[in-house]
Amino acid sequence: MRKPSVPIEIFKARRQRLAQLIKGSALLVPAWPELIRNADSHFNYRADSNLFYLTGFDEPESWLFFRPGSKNEVTLFVRQKNEERETWDGFRYGVEAAKKIFGVDQTYPIEDLVKVGSELIQGVDKIYYTLFRNSWSDPLFAEMIHKAYGTRPRYGLGPAPIYDANSLLGEMRIVKSDEEADFMRRACGISAEAHVELMKATKPGVSERALHGLFIKSVMERGAVGEAYGGIVASGDNSTTLHYRFNEAVLEAGQVLLVDCGAEFQFYSGDITRTYPVNGRFTNAQKRVYQKILNVQKKLIEMVKPGLPHFDLQEATIRGLTEILIEEKLLSGSVDDNIKSGAYQKYYPHGVSHLLGLDTHDLGAIRVQGASRPMEAGWVITIEPGLYFSAKDENVPEELRGVGIRIEDDILVTADGCENMTRGVPKEVEEVEALVGANFR
Ligand code: GLY
Ligand code: MN
Ligand code: MN
Repeated sequence: MRKPSVPIEIFKARRQRLAQLIKGSALLVPAWPELIRNADSHFNYRADSNLFYLTGFDEPESWLFFRPGSKNEVTLFVRQKNEERETWDGFRYGVEAAKKIFGVDQTYPIEDLVKVGSELIQGVDKIYYTLFRNSWSDPLFAEMIHKAYGTRPRYGLGPAPIYDANSLLGEMRIVKSDEEADFMRRACGISAEAHVELMKATKPGVSERALHGLFIKSVMERGAVGEAYGGIVASGDNSTTLHYRFNEAVLEAGQVLLVDCGAEFQFYSGDITRTYPVNGRFTNAQKRVYQKILNVQKKLIEMVKPGLPHFDLQEATIRGLTEILIEEKLLSGSVDDNIKSGAYQKYYPHGVSHLLGLDTHDLGAIRVQGASRPMEAGWVITIEPGLYFSAKDENVPEELRGVGIRIEDDILVTADGCENMTRGVPKEVEEVEALVGANFR
């Protein structure tokens, strides 16, 4: 029998904390069924982050109903035991074991969702459910609402008001507990070690795909379930495609290699980018621009502390990168004018930082009512400035064409500053040059 990989008391404690905020309401959290990849093969299943966060339950096609203050506060709808399916696809907890092992008040077969679920949402003050994120669960939710409240218009009553569950849970998930920070240190540490393996195995003639495979092997060897997101292993001009994912080219001397890969450990994500020369020596132009971006990245990390408005990081990045673009003669005019016109976006089209956690782009509001939010101890964010010079861009000096450079670390905001959880992967020019191709020397 499978077992939860984390003590279930952790999840109970989270629900107790949440109960204080939503007494009298019902929170509904669905987890997608398995998805077909092609013919009768499935994608590898990944648990719903919110459902896992509140229960530890990681199976597909399940729903949590959390109704603090009501009888039977915690209900799980789960797939039933099925000998034939389990012979083919493996273990399922089923209705009885799910109740016992996950310490919930009641469990039902998923087939009873609409009938029982519509009863569970009657009489609550508010319903928390995230609409338009799950095309499987939305029609089921609508059916439950219809069944629960369909008769009430006759009495002039509509359904209980519906609030967004992701906004509610984002407020909890945005601050990582000590246990979560430990899981994230592991996810980040494993990711960092695997990046070092890739640097050592890089040389002209090696394929992006072989290096991608090495990343997956390296993190799985270290206890990760695999990647947290589709890894980007991008050589030459591919490095200028932000989310390049073909990973099908063969590396050539003189190119840079941009690797944006992260491990998933106990459902927590690492997210690291390093950029280095395929043959172990940056060209002068590559080195100059790399060093300038690295200086910006290190300054940004130094800024991170509680109270800093998150958007200040993006503003500082835009300024720092625009200065580089002017120095490198990619833009002309003043820094302020180029910032105002947005001219820098041609070479820096993304944000510098996102929340990281159970999801790589984690849940949580970094802006509230249009205003940037001050960071708090316990947030985990990425810092990832980059510049991208397409091979097709004739404005770009020839030696920089087909060069994309991004440097990304994962940063825990602490009480008095921050901790770089991915400091295990070198990023100084000399360190990187010493590591690239080390396996072949
Ligand atoms: N790997 C996706 C990102 O850096 O946001
Ligand atoms: Mn990122
Ligand atoms: Mn990344």
